[in-house]
Amino acid sequence: MANLLKGKKGIIFGALDENSIAWKTALRVKEEGGEFTLTNAPIAMRLGTINKLAEACNAQVIAADATSETDLNNLFTKSMEVLGGKLDFVLHSIGMSPNIRKGKEYGDMNYEWYLKTLDISALSFHKVLQASEKLDALNEWASVVGLSYIAAQRAYPDYTDMAQAKAMLESIARSYGQRYGTKKKVRVNTISQSPTKTTAGTGISGFDVFFDFAEMMSPLGNASAEDCANYIAVMFSDYTRMVTMQNLMHDGGFSSSGITNNLIERLSK
Ligand SMILES: NC(=O)c1ccc[n+]([C@@H]2O[C@H](COP(=O)([O-])OP(=O)(O)OC[C@H]3O[C@@H](n4cnc5c(N)ncnc54)[C@H](O)[C@@H]3O)[C@@H](O)[C@H]2O)c1
Repeated sequence: MANLLKGKKGIIFGALDENSIAWKTALRVKEEGGEFTLTNAPIAMRLGTINKLAEACNAQVIAADATSETDLNNLFTKSMEVLGGKLDFVLHSIGMSPNIRKGKEYGDMNYEWYLKTLDISALSFHKVLQASEKLDALNEWASVVGLSYIAAQRAYPDYTDMAQAKAMLESIARSYGQRYGTKKKVRVNTISQSPTKTTAGTGISGFDVFFDFAEMMSPLGNASAEDCANYIAVMFSDYTRMVTMQNLMHDGGFSSSGITNNLIERLSK
């Protein structure tokens, strides 16, 4: 493929390091001819290596805490200035739970942190959409994508408050997708991705076990970060113009599998 996204402009949130799904997406979108600004929370930019990515993609970096309406307004305004017009795509690739970081169990949640989880990982998606609508920052047929996980539908012991954040994220995609589609023909979707070895992913305790379990339960195996980047590029393209308000499973078939021969053999031992 080449030039799938030629002439398209956008914003990519969430590239922390080269394992990040957003990092791989930035490289893919660049390869496909898209232009974009990169953004992350100021603190993450100090920890990460985003400038290396910015150089590789010839992209400008604009810091923004995705929970701050002021930062988001500045990000959209500056991005339109830098890129010379309205935008065609936005990737929201953001997730963080202070409760998970601090190893809190589901029966011992710190509620201030719980609210932070929801604000950073879900409400920020609404803030991004509302800021873009108020500034009229998106072209018709623009595509906004958020990243979700199947814990929105099924219980996972150590995913704790992130499960509610993902359920809320998917719900925002439906509600805002309906509004934005009607008003401006902008589409909004979430992609529910396989477990992936990134900073956010491996921060969940027991990650290696459910990574291996998902691998065995998925006829195609787990989808990698590179696979996810390819799918996002397609979702940004004109080939998916009529797809909106969906939670799109990108999981090698995991979500439709009851059990697989692979697991039967493993458990028969
Ligand atoms: N890794 C997995 O197993 C997996 C599976 C399904 C979905 N996802 C989702 O994919 C998305 C990207 O995560 P990843 O796996 O690439 O991990 P990652 O740790 O590389 O990315 C998470 C990003 O969120 C950013 N972030 C945190 N707080 C922020 C804030 N206040 N403002 C702006 N940015 C902030 C971080 O700086 C980081 O860049 C997340 O939504 C995650 O939940 C991950």
